[in-house]
Amino acid sequence: MATIHVDGNDYEVEDSDNLLHACLSLGLDIPYFCWHPAMGSVGACRQCAVKQYKDADDDRGMLVMSCMAPVKDDAYISIADEEAKAFRQTVIEWLMVNHPHDCPVCEEGGHCHLQDMTVMTGHDRRRYRFRKRTHRNQNLGPFIAHEMNRCITCYRCTRFYQDYAGGEDLGAFGAHDNVYFGRVTDGTLESEFSGNLTEVCPTGVFTDQTHSDHYTRKWDLQFAPSVCHQCASGCNISPGERYGDIRRIENRYNGDVNGYFLCDRGRFGYGYVNRKDRPTRPEYRETDGEARSMEVDEALDRAADALRGARRIIGIGSPRASLESNHRLRQLVGADNFSTGIEAGELARIRRMEALNRETGLATPSLREIEQCDAILVLGEDLIQSAARVALSVRQAVRGKGAELGAARGIPEWNAEAVKTIAQDAGHSLFLATPDVTKLDGIATRAERAGPDDIARLGFAVAHALDPTAPAVDGLDDATSKLAEGIADALMAAKKPLVIAGESLGSMAILEAAGNVARALARRQKADAGLTLVRREANSVGLGLLGGESLDWALEQLDTGSADGVVILENDLYARLPATRVDSALARAAAVVTIDHQRTPTWERADIGLPAGTFAESDGTLVSLEGRAQRFYQVFDPSYMRPDTRIRESWRWLHALHATLDRQPVETVLLDDLTQAVAEDAPALAPLHQNTPEAMFRIHGLKLAREPHRYSGRTAMRANLNVNEPRAPVDLDTPFAFSMEGYAGYQEPRRDVAFAWAPGWNSPQAWNKFQDEVGGHLRAGDPGKRLFTAPVADGDYCTEIPAAFTPRADEWQVIDLPQLFGGDEMSRRAEPIRERMAAPQVALSEADAARLGVAAGDVVSISLDGAAFELPARLSAGMPKGMIGLPGGTVQEITGALTPGVTRWGRIMRAGGERQASAEEVRP
Ligand code: SF4
Ligand code: SF4
Ligand code: FES
Repeated sequence: MATIHVDGNDYEVEDSDNLLHACLSLGLDIPYFCWHPAMGSVGACRQCAVKQYKDADDDRGMLVMSCMAPVKDDAYISIADEEAKAFRQTVIEWLMVNHPHDCPVCEEGGHCHLQDMTVMTGHDRRRYRFRKRTHRNQNLGPFIAHEMNRCITCYRCTRFYQDYAGGEDLGAFGAHDNVYFGRVTDGTLESEFSGNLTEVCPTGVFTDQTHSDHYTRKWDLQFAPSVCHQCASGCNISPGERYGDIRRIENRYNGDVNGYFLCDRGRFGYGYVNRKDRPTRPEYRETDGEARSMEVDEALDRAADALRGARRIIGIGSPRASLESNHRLRQLVGADNFSTGIEAGELARIRRMEALNRETGLATPSLREIEQCDAILVLGEDLIQSAARVALSVRQAVRGKGAELGAARGIPEWNAEAVKTIAQDAGHSLFLATPDVTKLDGIATRAERAGPDDIARLGFAVAHALDPTAPAVDGLDDATSKLAEGIADALMAAKKPLVIAGESLGSMAILEAAGNVARALARRQKADAGLTLVRREANSVGLGLLGGESLDWALEQLDTGSADGVVILENDLYARLPATRVDSALARAAAVVTIDHQRTPTWERADIGLPAGTFAESDGTLVSLEGRAQRFYQVFDPSYMRPDTRIRESWRWLHALHATLDRQPVETVLLDDLTQAVAEDAPALAPLHQNTPEAMFRIHGLKLAREPHRYSGRTAMRANLNVNEPRAPVDLDTPFAFSMEGYAGYQEPRRDVAFAWAPGWNSPQAWNKFQDEVGGHLRAGDPGKRLFTAPVADGDYCTEIPAAFTPRADEWQVIDLPQLFGGDEMSRRAEPIRERMAAPQVALSEADAARLGVAAGDVVSISLDGAAFELPARLSAGMPKGMIGLPGGTVQEITGALTPGVTRWGRIMRAGGERQASAEEVRP
């Protein structure tokens, strides 16, 4: 620690910080542009000048850039010094020379860091009277709008895009005052993290194109703290609503999880909330198959009557629904009649992952902790596609080598350009084993291509190399043995090694192999080692912990007539098991009631459909892949703007249906009661009730505001419907108010922050004000409750090692390759995501392509699971011979139901004819 003296006051600060970081962490305001808490300092913009004095007697001092000046004990500085103020004012005047001053039409206006800093420095007169430099803008694809004239040349965009996120197609071009930030030519930004440019850029050069299409100022949006539902990473988001539509999603800072950054699926995949074809009223299906809409009471009566006629009712839950909704369904049908709604193989793997997280002796690191790891082995996961935010953390872990090399030369980590120069291409060890090329290959120490069984064998071999008591792998070739030894050496040499595996390839063997590596590390006393296991869906972990049978079990109950009534919760069964199987089971049910927010094939097949709220219209709890239970809050009440809608939270429907079935009056139920019931019923979820500020949480006796204090127009918003303004909805379930009335400040610590705002800080940089130190943790603690705690070393090594893969003569092993854009059932319904989805192709090895006489782009016929379809071929340099890769999720749309993540065999041939393979060609 060090003592610094700022404008006559003494403060204790971290001596490893720079002065800007230290002062902002103390709550002192210094304007800045190029510095970013996650990206460090480069000293480019000259905006953060302060006066620094030699000692207490020095009365002249010198101007320094506070972001480039290290904290020194007994340092004297002044932010308020007149010369420093004048300097900062001049700098912003220079930066604004070419700026178009178009705030009234700029989409950044109202949450713009440049506006905030301009006000902070006091620059309020434009003296420049000449022609401004102008640029042409580019079409950067469906996510990002471009207005280069607003640029102030801070270089944050390229530093984020290239250095932090590894993108290659956005750069800086030009010189002096004519620098252009964009692509070489127009075209969609290739990075999966491009959306962060909208928050990283301090002005309105890069803005959210999906927001432009239905633009609303930040102060006119209603927010709630939420959690991304588009994968299992658990990123925290701040969705904004106006007129009953979600208008944009911004990052919500969680120091342990996503920090400042989201992936593009999470940021831009919200369009399914706004779809016009969503069911908004209960429906029942007439005998002629036509759907008829009905009122809530009638819907409950009809559903209850239909279910009462059934001999036995089962419930099918969902890993995309909250714990509370799933548990309420379980209460309705009874624990013995509850299915998780997850296909049997996947459920077994989810359970196995949970056991491995508990008993291998290694902890599951948070995303922030992953960034500190110094050797990583990834078995089977293409992380950018399956858990993008985890991939971004892995990238930072590799880059951490630069900080280590810098530290050895006395260069602090925050000195970003110096660290980058020292690091050059050096990185911490990263070993990847996947069937196809990945976008992390470029930073990997070694990227090995293999199918699921051979990836597992490599993992088992690494475990054996770490600990000879772990089972050896028979028949391993020399090259793989050497590779395994090399990986084991790197893991042992690291202070914080990490093993990552997951669900993407549907291979239990890969999970067991990762488990063996983890156990071996634990036995070798690598106490700081970690194990991260990637699940597919937002609440896969939660469902595993809650318990319940598989979807296959549920269909069997219906097929065999053991049950004939079914309630399906937020689950499209046709997306999980083949259509023939689902059809046959549902055909035997006397009553099919579904609760969902999308018009899925399952909704269309149900006798009665009850319209549920999406994440934006309901509250609940999800458990992320790191075992963090996090609550998401309702952003808006859909019936306020659309009085004819009958959308309800799924758990509210289930509560009402249960009471109606029991011929009881429907009593009020509160979310906290349901969360408590979950915690009491499932031992693994017991800490849940400590998870949240409960409904009665208040600050100074106030609820928390969902709307900024300048929120405008409420009295006029429904004037087209009725000039009498109805009362704002009352939220009994949470501490948040559906209004601007309530606490919206930053001074009182709170974990669940609906939107980041502090006086003078309207941009996402306002998160500084909520943190214990900038870039650190929220002062009240980061949101969420970790459920995987204190792992113990229990159980023994797995000995079931698969045989090496052998290609077949006339069949190919089919692998579903995870897709960030298109691989998730909900975000795939959002138009911008559909635009970003790659055209589906079948990936095959060059050897197989030659054998079949197929060139890149040729159409290939595929027969699989009784379905036949055609796709263009993509030749993959990595794909092993005898395997083909299909884009997960996308192909499902084309071909009907396929089982995600299950190893299958299919036949392929060049459309229009097959060439016979020779024995030589088939040999591995
Ligand atoms: S485009 Fe934005 S982030 Fe990039 S240099 Fe210009 S102002 Fe900075
Ligand atoms: S990584 Fe997953 S949870 Fe995070 S923003 Fe992307 S889709 Fe959402
Ligand atoms: S923030 Fe210090 S020079 Fe840019």
